[in-house]
Parts: sequence; C-alpha cells; structure tokens
Amino acid sequence: MEKRKGLISLMKDTKLYIVMVGLPARGKSTVASRLKENLKNDSIKTRIFNNGELRRKMIPNDTSFAGFYDPENKEGMTIREKIALINLERARKYLQKDGNVAIIDATNASLKRRKKIQAQLIDHPILFIECINNDEEILDASILRKIEMPEFEHLSKEEAIQSFKERISYYLPIYTPLKKDTYFIKLDSLNNKIIQEEIKDDIPFYDQIRDFLVTDTLKNLYLIRHGETYFNLENRIGGDSDLTENGLLQAKALAKFFSNKNIPLIFTSQKKRTIQTAEPIKELQKNCTIILLAEFNEIDSGITECMSYEEIRRDMPQVYFERKKDKYNYIYPEGEGYASMKERIDRGIKKALYLSNTSKNIMIIGHRAANRMILSHFLFRREEDVPYIYIPQDKFYYISAVQNRKLFQLKRY
Ligand code: F6P
Repeated sequence: MEKRKGLISLMKDTKLYIVMVGLPARGKSTVASRLKENLKNDSIKTRIFNNGELRRKMIPNDTSFAGFYDPENKEGMTIREKIALINLERARKYLQKDGNVAIIDATNASLKRRKKIQAQLIDHPILFIECINNDEEILDASILRKIEMPEFEHLSKEEAIQSFKERISYYLPIYTPLKKDTYFIKLDSLNNKIIQEEIKDDIPFYDQIRDFLVTDTLKNLYLIRHGETYFNLENRIGGDSDLTENGLLQAKALAKFFSNKNIPLIFTSQKKRTIQTAEPIKELQKNCTIILLAEFNEIDSGITECMSYEEIRRDMPQVYFERKKDKYNYIYPEGEGYASMKERIDRGIKKALYLSNTSKNIMIIGHRAANRMILSHFLFRREEDVPYIYIPQDKFYYISAVQNRKLFQLKRY
C-alpha cells in the first residue's frame, strides 16, 4: 500500500507538454486522441488543447474561409495568435493543477510560433510530435472528412474542398519541419512509423508514448461480411451482384442491432453488395458517412470471375486443384491471391484507422476473402490457415485492440 502511494505521488509530479506539429489534415488530432486514450488507460491524466476547437467556440465570425489563414491577413493572424496563447495558458494551468500531460493540438507549423511556445511553457519539458503524410490519396480522403465540419456547411462540396486546399497552401511557406534544437519525434502518421527522433533520456512517459505511437490501436471495430447475394445462392465468386431479399433483411437486422451504438463511419468496398448492406445501417444512425475503399474489394479471381466453384472444377481443373494445394500463395491467372492482397488490405486498414477517431466505433463491411485478411491483420493465424477463417453472413466479428489487450468475438446480430 505504502509503495503504491509512493508511485501515485511520483506520478503526480511528473508533467509533460506534447506539442503537435504539421500541416493541416496530416493526422495530428487522430494521433493526439490516440495518445490521450492510451495515456489515460495508464492512469496518466491527459488533456488535449485544440486551437481549432477553441477558435470555433470563441469566435462567432466565420473563420472557415481560406483567406483567414493567409499570414498576410493581420486580423486572422491576431485572432489565431490570441487563441494559441489562451490554449497555452490553459495547458499550463492544467499541469499546475493535477494534469500530467497537456497536448497542444494545432499546426504549430512555423518556427516563430514554436519559439513562442517554448518561451511560454518553461515549467516542464516539451516533446514535439510532427505528423508527416504526403500520400495524395489519403490527403484527399482526409480533406473530405474535414469538410464535413459544420463550418463548411454553407459551401458546396467542391467549394469546401477548394477552400481547404487553399488553407493548406497558406501554411506551406511558413512550415518549418522540426530541427535538432528541440526534443521531437517525427511520425509517418499513416503507417505509425517513427521517421526520426531526437530525445534526451529524461522525457517523462517517453517509453509509453513511443510505444503508443507505433501501435495500431482501435477500441471497437465491427467487421461485417455483406448480406446474402444472388451469386452466393449459386455459389458464384466475384462479380458485382445485388443482395437478395434475405440479404436485405440481414442488412436491416444489422441496422437495428447497431441503432443504439454510434457509428460515425462505415468503410465498404466498391461493390454493390457491401454498400447495400451499409445503407440501412446509415439510415438508422444520426450522423454516419459511408466511405468506399477499393482496398477492401473482394479477391480478384481473374479468369474465373463470376464462375461457380463447380464450374471452375469442371472447366478449369488446373486452377481448382493448384489453388487447393496452396490456397494462401496461389494467384488466380489474371487476378489475385491471398498473399498478393495483403499489401492493399493493410493499406485499407491504415486508411480506415487514419480517417477514424480510433477511440470511437469503426465499422468495415467487406467480403469473405477480404475480411479474412483484415482479421488476420489483428489476429495471428498461420498463413496456410488464413484462407479458411470462418466468415459467416449472419454474424460479425468484434475486435478491440488496445495497448496490451486484444479481444476478438464472433457475435450474432
Ligand atoms: O462469397 C464468395 C466470395 O466472396 C468470392 O467472391 C470469393 O472469390 C470467395 O468468396 C473467397 O473465398 P475462397 O477464397 O474460400 O474461395
């Protein structure tokens, strides 16, 4: 008991500022909330101070237009600096009281801003975390998520995209990547990979933070296979078949099952059967977006697309029996195999995690082979067993993978 008390009081006095750095839409907020979630699980009192949120709360005027972010716009600059200072002061007070880690979530892209932060926050160490991601496709998808914010409501989709891209362009000339004069981690925020780190030994909580940054964590992932299709009835593979009456009923049952949970995002493949399964679920949600990812498409079975297993066995016995011999590594002529799908499936998972707040519920609606690969990303299976993982249509997998705890459940809906 005495020892435990000692530990708690030691932690009470351990304090750290984390300052996020990076251009807009580079995953800073996702990383910040993942850190907070994990640190809190370790009983480390953590709070995020987000400049954008504070600006939206405090400033009644429209601050969404791109010109507001122009460094030449004096009024915009004054407001942004004021918000930044208020947040720094709040972070300082939080650590003065009982907080352990204060995360300053903003672009903090210019050297000038970072110097101000260093001048203001002198009572505890500062760790800078720079998020880097220059993948155009991911950036486009992130921008699509950003423009869902109410501040873009008055614009058309195209105008909002344009405005956000213009906003980014104002940051480019002032953006100075971190240099060796600070303690920092540069993170490839799509792949959760540390690109560079500059640390002295006594940064508090460093081991935990580093480990959290490189771990794919997700609180609640619901991995669902699409409902029954006309092709399923005939045992046909691939193609782009519709759901049957029964499949639509399954989708409705799923919708009802999940209606008391908050599902902000549903990732599907580009195939009708996954989208038709997602639509009724979206309908019963308050705020839900369906995002189609080609990465989650079903295995491309090449020259055998749309054939039934019986037809393949009869008309292309070589394909049938060769595949049986080594199902994981076999590649359909002009198509794919499990092993060759791995890269795109992993990329789809990274995309889905990047675009989601991993502390919330995430749903993926995929296919039999695609879901086997998604499942095996989180759950170890020998390669030769992956193509046989049970992926039913009347149940779904619930996966929770947080630091040091993984949970898999096959659940009926
Ligand atoms: O539901 C059928 C299906 O999704 C096909 O489109 C796909 O080719 C097949 O399942 C994958 O399963 P297996 O690798 O066991 O043939």
